[in-house]
Amino acid sequence: MPLVSMRQLLDEAAAGGYGVGAFNVNNMEQIQAVFEAAQETRSPVIVQASRGARSYTNDRFLIHLMTAAVELYPDVPVSLHQDHGNSPETCLSAIDQGFTSVMMEGSLMDDGKTPSDFEYNVAVTREVVEKAHAKGVTVEGELGTLGGIEDGVGSGEVHLTDPDQAVEFVERTGIDALAVAIGTSHGAYKFTKPPDGEVLAMHLIQQIHERLPDTHLVMHGSSSVPQDLVEKINRFGGKIAPTWGVPVEEIQLGIRHGVRKINVDTDARLAMTSAIREVFVEHPEEFDPRSYLKPAREAMKAVYKQRMEQFGQAGHAGDYEPLTLEQMRERYAAVAA
Ligand code: 13P
Repeated sequence: MPLVSMRQLLDEAAAGGYGVGAFNVNNMEQIQAVFEAAQETRSPVIVQASRGARSYTNDRFLIHLMTAAVELYPDVPVSLHQDHGNSPETCLSAIDQGFTSVMMEGSLMDDGKTPSDFEYNVAVTREVVEKAHAKGVTVEGELGTLGGIEDGVGSGEVHLTDPDQAVEFVERTGIDALAVAIGTSHGAYKFTKPPDGEVLAMHLIQQIHERLPDTHLVMHGSSSVPQDLVEKINRFGGKIAPTWGVPVEEIQLGIRHGVRKINVDTDARLAMTSAIREVFVEHPEEFDPRSYLKPAREAMKAVYKQRMEQFGQAGHAGDYEPLTLEQMRERYAAVAA
């Protein structure tokens, strides 16, 4: 099946009461691992690429790898999403490349670092919604800022999402999905101890969902940072300081309150690195890249499969017929009329 609109994936997830993992990719092995996991668990899935990923892979490699994957795994409904678009230009160039969904991160200025003001955020997000919906493409907006810095993106400051402002933001922009800031951050170093309500404001999700029951909520920074992977990296010569991620039970609580898209990047990075380190230490005579990239791919696939089952998307791949982007365009036009 062709790449699917993310809006349709999330609408179906809302109807079915489950969440959909959005996994960041930078190379062929990650894409293969996501699709293998989705096929085996019969999951719809979101593949996402940051600006850093797009420049690392080069857009054309990325698109052709995704085209190959879609051809080889025809039963997997999948959206290709621009993660952290820093400007309308970035989002529009992703759409030109064939992405079916984009995130306009207007909570930061286009340097991807400086927090912006509300009116700037509304204006750039609205611009992207108008242009994206005219092509049937989905838009995720963001209100509030996360902690942490990923691929050079992020202010490092946390500004939690204000539920009342969220209502105004959604009304004025017309976005399909809203990324909320609830105290998570990108990367492996989220929390210095297992998080409690003091640092992870899950109650905000509930409040926002009550006010915006029809808006799909997005949780960024949702890696769980499995302790066994951190321990394995360190056992084989790595140096990861003690750290905690977002417990899966908290994500599942979010899913019960309107979270439909869950962003996970770090957990796959940890899985890949732990597998490669193990081969390097246990088999120092090896120099065929396949000897370590194959176990790395298997390790990522295991993480993806586990998350697909935990988020509830497993088993839902065959539930619906994908709409074309043209049908989505008509749907947006009908709502706007
Ligand atoms: P993690 O670093 O927790 O995997 O978050 C990834 C993310 O939110 C990408 O946008």
